[in-house]
Amino acid sequence: MDYLKKMLRDDALIEKTIVVTGGGSGLGKAMTKYFMELGAKVAITSRNLERLKETAKELELETGGTCLPVQCDVRHFEQVEAMRDAVINKFGKVDVLLNNAAGNFISPTERLSANAFDVIIDIVLKGTKNCTLAFGKDWIDKKETNKCVLNIVTTYAWTGSGYVVPSAAAKAGVLAMTRSLAVEWAKYGMRFNAIAPGPFPTKGAWDRLLPGDLKDKFDMAKKVPLKRVGEHQELANLAAYLVSGFSAYINGEVITIDGGEWLKGAGEFNLLEDIPEEMWDQLEMMIRAKKKTNNALT
Ligand code: HXC
Ligand code: NAP
Repeated sequence: MDYLKKMLRDDALIEKTIVVTGGGSGLGKAMTKYFMELGAKVAITSRNLERLKETAKELELETGGTCLPVQCDVRHFEQVEAMRDAVINKFGKVDVLLNNAAGNFISPTERLSANAFDVIIDIVLKGTKNCTLAFGKDWIDKKETNKCVLNIVTTYAWTGSGYVVPSAAAKAGVLAMTRSLAVEWAKYGMRFNAIAPGPFPTKGAWDRLLPGDLKDKFDMAKKVPLKRVGEHQELANLAAYLVSGFSAYINGEVITIDGGEWLKGAGEFNLLEDIPEEMWDQLEMMIRAKKKTNNALT
């Protein structure tokens, strides 16, 4: 399958330094690995330093590249500034910020405490804001150009979704920030884009969104017109393209990678997919017969 293959030329990210928040696990780890394979130096950050160290070691062995683990809770601006300084201290500069860290869990909204709502907004929206300000203002101060910020949102950033309301509100805010700064900070030589993934199995997401036997009850692949969930490499291919110089004219865009999932939910008559072929024969006859009756009456 082509989508399982690595898409870009081997030197596509050579000389680039990339910071991936939430890079120790799941999709952040998959994107980090591919960036390293393409020649980038990558700093991965999250709260769990042990996991970051293990990931960095594993990826350095697998790719022969360089990965710097830095502990940082993106909810706290001073930790983000310290993380930025540590990365610049090690690599000399940062070219790309990938805001990938997130928190989420399913819950009826009326069961959420104010703090439970806040914790998601703080990680996703405030964390993205903290990193964007810390890196963006530093680039502006130093007059460094050719920089890029890539934000990971999701398709319910624009549709909204019940049972993940704090996440939906926060991701909508991140999408608005992406589009706003794509215009405002282009003059400083920065591009801002977003990726909206559909279902890509990861332990972090599946444990919180499909706990217990929900995994078996809700087959996510069935919700997708292409009848499969996403593969990490195809997301990594897209992310690598968007942070590379090959996408230099793409700015302010959100690219959906979901096999058509959200549109399936949105289209008025898409549920008709469940109608069996034999029933379509009857339905067609009924519709055509109605037309004949109408013609006869006029
Ligand atoms: C109701 C809950 C809850 C639950 C926690 N809380 N879990 N409320 N139902 N299931 C409440 C707690 O009681 C507390 O409120 C508040 O939330 C904070 O909880 P803590 O456990 O103290 O927070 P913390 O240790 O900071 O953990 C943050 C977390 C956790 C978000 C709750 O899940 C986490 O660390 N997540 C990081 C990774 C992650 O979520 N990955 C999935 C991303 S998937 P009180 O009032 O009691 O203090 C994703 C996919 C989107 O985004 C699209 C998919 C298609
Ligand atoms: P994941 O493995 O749980 O990734 C989330 C990461 O965020 C973890 O590495 C976590 O590390 C980090 N993180 C959480 N709170 C943090 C904080 N306060 N400070 C710093 N880092 C923090 O889940 P994933 O599925 O790979 O998700 C990655 C991204 O994809 C998220 O933005 C998610 O919304 C998005 N997404 C995923 C899917 C999917 O189907 N998987 C679909 C759409 C969008 P620590 O716990 O160590 O801090």
